Amino acid sequence: MKKMLDLITEEVTKAFTACGYDEKYAKVTLSNRPDLCEYQCNGAMAAAKEYKKAPFMIADAVAEQLKDDPMFASAESVKPGFLNFKLDEGYLAGYLREMQADTERFGCDKTDAPKKIMIDYGGPNVAKPLHVGHLRSAIIGESIKRIGRFMGHEMIGDVHLGDWGLQMGLIITELKVRKPDLVYFDESYTGEYPAEPPFTISELEEIYPTASGKSKEDAVYKEAAMQATYELQHGRKGYQALLSHILNVSVTDLKKNYANLNVSFDLWKGESDAQPYIPDMVQKMKDDGYAYISEGALVVDVKEDTDTKEIPPCMILKSDGASLYNTTDLATIVWRMKDYHPDEIIYVVDKRQELYFTQVFRCAKKTHLVDDTTSLKFLGFGTMNGKDGKPFKTREGGVMRLEHLVSEINEEMYKKITDNHTMDEAEARDTAKIVALSAIKYGDLSNQASKDYIFDIERFTSFEGNTGPYILYTIVRMKSILAKYKAAGHEVADAKILPARSESEKALMLELTRFNAAMETAFAETAPHKVCAYIYDLANALNHFYHETKILAEEDEAVQAGYICLLELTKGILEKCIDVLGFSAPERM
Ligand code: ARG
Repeated sequence: MKKMLDLITEEVTKAFTACGYDEKYAKVTLSNRPDLCEYQCNGAMAAAKEYKKAPFMIADAVAEQLKDDPMFASAESVKPGFLNFKLDEGYLAGYLREMQADTERFGCDKTDAPKKIMIDYGGPNVAKPLHVGHLRSAIIGESIKRIGRFMGHEMIGDVHLGDWGLQMGLIITELKVRKPDLVYFDESYTGEYPAEPPFTISELEEIYPTASGKSKEDAVYKEAAMQATYELQHGRKGYQALLSHILNVSVTDLKKNYANLNVSFDLWKGESDAQPYIPDMVQKMKDDGYAYISEGALVVDVKEDTDTKEIPPCMILKSDGASLYNTTDLATIVWRMKDYHPDEIIYVVDKRQELYFTQVFRCAKKTHLVDDTTSLKFLGFGTMNGKDGKPFKTREGGVMRLEHLVSEINEEMYKKITDNHTMDEAEARDTAKIVALSAIKYGDLSNQASKDYIFDIERFTSFEGNTGPYILYTIVRMKSILAKYKAAGHEVADAKILPARSESEKALMLELTRFNAAMETAFAETAPHKVCAYIYDLANALNHFYHETKILAEEDEAVQAGYICLLELTKGILEKCIDVLGFSAPERM
């Protein structure tokens, strides 16, 4: 369906041209004075200069033209030359009926230019537990993926595991200390990988920090870890078998953790998958004359004339020939192009990596790893801070594990819900989990991604204010009214949305019409916070309408059925929106 603002602009455009004024002046926007009107056009002010007339003369003529237009309840010219519009209630109800008839998409059309978009988010490191830093990438990336899918794009999510480098050598070294008899340490090992991994996930998560601590104090240990890393990367069979065990154990655990967050990936690729592409990529960069040796290292210049700050060269190989994080990201682009040829790759990563990605993207373009039809986009997010404004920590001051954070919020929610309701234990636990997830995700997504934000458990879990639980509460409220209406056995043959009968009803109806525009903008600007802002307005409009209107006690059956249709549409849209944000609503709370 066409967006409401576009329809109004089209109508106003006809009036401008009929009066002899250029159509570029006819742009209509939402009113910034909702007390005076619903939509406005300031074009007459600008047109005044070109036509050398007083702005109100132009506005008057346009308003006169629209006087009997069925789209408007009023179209007024206001001095010094504004045009103020109120929509006709019948026209508005007609638009909403069309939205309602579109039961899956509520009038938000799929794009007619679908793109293939890969989205790199998550970025967990194997053998290390997920911490709150990984939370933002998962939450934001998942939402962008879902918004894109809803808009009709092919979205491919890749977790991009950190599964390469010294951390692997450290684990292998520590394993060797603890279990020297493992067959994998036999230098001549070439065998199959037995199905049973020689460690559990909890062991693995303890091994890594131990090894990392030892390597900082013990130079010989560190040397051994570097040697193990080198041998792993140069084909030592036993170590590769260990790597695949480490990966299996880690990934199983990661999948479980992400599933708890309602986050899933299409691809479970990692840094290690890019390694086979490095030699040819490097050779080509050299052959084409882009890569050269500088102070022993192999680099590609990426600075541009228009730079206002220094962009250092992109380092491809260290002087000892070892590859880097850069090299892996570039080689990852190689296989992504080869296997998928996406129109776009979006990276949802901590904004402190922005300069790094500028180098990688420029290098990829310059050396033609991607062609001009593929765009590389960095979506950097800010830090999640505690109430003290510093990066979020445990009460003891340590790094907060994601699972612990989630169970803390679950517990908080469980208390609230059992205070409010008598529910059996299982339902209370399930409901707490659903509501807690909305608190965490909405708390994050309602901020512009690039900004830091304060993770405030009390505020995020509140049922009032701009929070996830408030949105869910609104949905649950509608579910309950709809259930009561059904239970009363109403049967209205021709139930349809009727022209608004009150200010609050009209305000709700106007909010509903904004759905397609809100989704479109959220996708175009990769900005899930725009969906949050929209549903907060919509939930407020619904609650206002609810408080001002007797719905279940309404005596006129057709009017009541109209209210019910409106509630159903509002519920459908809110549920669609929270689905693209990556959470859902319970039956009651
Ligand atoms: N593993 C990295 C980290 O924990 C994040 C990876 C981000 N994605 C990428 N393509 N570099 O910092």
